[in-house]
Amino acid sequence: AVNRVPLIAGNWKMNLDHLQAIAFVQKLAWSLADAKHDPASVEVAVFPPFTDLRSVQTLVSADKLPIAFGGQDVSEHDSGAYTGEISGAFLKALECSYVLIGHSERRTLHAESDEQVAGKVAAAIKHNVVPIICVGETSDDLEKHGPSAVPVAQLKAALAGVSATADIVVAYEPVWAIGSGQAATPEQAEQVAAALRAELRETLGEDVAAKTRILYGGSVKAANIAGFMREPNVDGALVGGASLDLNEFSSIVRYQK
Ligand code: G3P
Repeated sequence: AVNRVPLIAGNWKMNLDHLQAIAFVQKLAWSLADAKHDPASVEVAVFPPFTDLRSVQTLVSADKLPIAFGGQDVSEHDSGAYTGEISGAFLKALECSYVLIGHSERRTLHAESDEQVAGKVAAAIKHNVVPIICVGETSDDLEKHGPSAVPVAQLKAALAGVSATADIVVAYEPVWAIGSGQAATPEQAEQVAAALRAELRETLGEDVAAKTRILYGGSVKAANIAGFMREPNVDGALVGGASLDLNEFSSIVRYQK
């Protein structure tokens, strides 16, 4: 990943309440400090449930911890009669740097369409929260269309309202690798990451393609992270299950050591 600061992101999904979140983030910060973690060499971010964000923000800002955070979803709308939704403006007010958009669990369990994903990406950018656009194929897609077609099409659709100066992150998460213990190989991840970068180049130009970080997600753990990070187009990881285990997540962050 030439000139791109790697990003190791933990997607907690629906785990850890705000009290557990405070304890976890505090311990993570101690562990990073023990390891003399340099945020300029690897950026660390956590994605707690919405109800935890205020607590995480308070802790991170009071102690100036080198841990970024963000929401797991955002509304396409700014405000108004949208019961249960969370606006990008609210995330920004809580100092969220990032927001996950289009995670496969939202696409599957909440039938999020490519159009909605594009609307959410545009909303995040409008409120100065960097979207982490999640894409990935099911094993069925893989069989029918090969490795890159579906993730590339999802990315293309998600970029509909994005300008050539936008700050975005892309996360490639093959659905078959999520929570299955069966990660993609580094070569598989690289092949799709390279195709996604080519799509960024085509749609948004060379500058965005060169600066945008592309993460791999799906059964990442301490034992396999280094292989992914050696690939030229993989600039980090989006970690689910292993991000809830402090030792495991800290080891993933320290993959170089
Ligand atoms: O967003 C991260 C996630 O979907 C991957 O989950 O548990 O396979 O690391 P996991």
